[in-house]
Amino acid sequence: MKNLSTRTAGFTDSVIRRMTRVSMKYGAVNLSQGFPDFDPPKEITDRLAEIAGVGPHQYALTWGAQNFREALAQKQEHFSGMKINPDTEIVVTCGSTEAMMAAMMTVCNPGDKVVIFSPFYENYGADTILSGAEPIYVPLKPPTFEFDANVLEDAVKQPQVKALILCNPSNPCGKVFTYEELTIIADLAKKYDIYVITDEVYEHILYEPHQHTYLAALPGMRERTIICNSLSKTYSITGWRLGYVIASPEIIDRVKKVHDFLTVGAAAPLMEAATVGLKFSDEYYKGLQAHYTHMKNLFVSGLRDIGLTFTEPQGAYYVLVDIREFGYESDLDFCEDLARKVGVGAVPGSSFFRENVNHLIRFHFAKQDATLMEALDRLSEIRRKL
Ligand SMILES: Cc1ncc(COP(=O)(O)O)c(C=O)c1O
Repeated sequence: MKNLSTRTAGFTDSVIRRMTRVSMKYGAVNLSQGFPDFDPPKEITDRLAEIAGVGPHQYALTWGAQNFREALAQKQEHFSGMKINPDTEIVVTCGSTEAMMAAMMTVCNPGDKVVIFSPFYENYGADTILSGAEPIYVPLKPPTFEFDANVLEDAVKQPQVKALILCNPSNPCGKVFTYEELTIIADLAKKYDIYVITDEVYEHILYEPHQHTYLAALPGMRERTIICNSLSKTYSITGWRLGYVIASPEIIDRVKKVHDFLTVGAAAPLMEAATVGLKFSDEYYKGLQAHYTHMKNLFVSGLRDIGLTFTEPQGAYYVLVDIREFGYESDLDFCEDLARKVGVGAVPGSSFFRENVNHLIRFHFAKQDATLMEALDRLSEIRRKL
């Protein structure tokens, strides 16, 4: 038999999603893969029930149903101040996972390089390699996760660099980039003529006083920013696989082609039902933020009571916990033992860092109070069991 493609040789399967399987195997409270265990807004699920009877049940337009794109454009304008043409500047995708892959395939040629902040959401490394490019990592240094502007410039100015990926707010470190930091990134992108692909899936999950700034709305950034985003986290519908790309018409024209042949389109009935959510008033987003602030406070105060060392997030729904006191050489082994002996699932931090970091693990806290209490109760035994 001839050899299979070498395209997948540069990365493993997703460790995050593998840890969900480990959690299931040991009956652990799964705080590894980030998804809520509470219901989506009732208005959205009620609408889905109606749609089951009346449709749509057939393909929508490949780049997304008209009313869904119109609602998306209005929401984006409301929060970012950017006026978006729903016909020429949006493609609806199967989650922001497809959005990112389609963006990377649109931007990169084999031999190009892509700058990624480390720690990073693990898809970016694989997406870069699958699109034929090579990642270059720039550290965000724990515990504050700031970057050195000179190191960033040294990376960005390499001639083969085509794009930078910005995850803001960041998974896994919970960093919310400040206006000043985004200005540094924007200035470098313009100076060295590169694209910035943003992943803003946690745009509405922020803890006071942190605020989200849309990089694309900064002067001169609209034409070189490709926004990847999703409804997964904002409306607690990670299984619906609804995401989108927003960019200039020139870029969107290319994204449409990639998307058309990758997936044809997102699920028509789900787009129709989720349109209700895109039209929610500001009250919904305030409520979402209050809910996440409650979950974050509950979880981090529990970790504090147990005496664990961690970095409190500014946004998104993850906490990185320092495990040095337990004396493990491998964070992967630690997470396996944590699931098996303590009964809580986490993700080894090394899957997010390019640098040799294996003293951090990631928990997520998008869970009901009872789930978080159960996890904290089990974690209170951690020093006895590990
Ligand atoms: C930073 C980031 N981007 C993208 C995704 C995947 O989003 P989607 O469900 O829209 O594919 C996740 C999921 O955890 C994430 O944390």
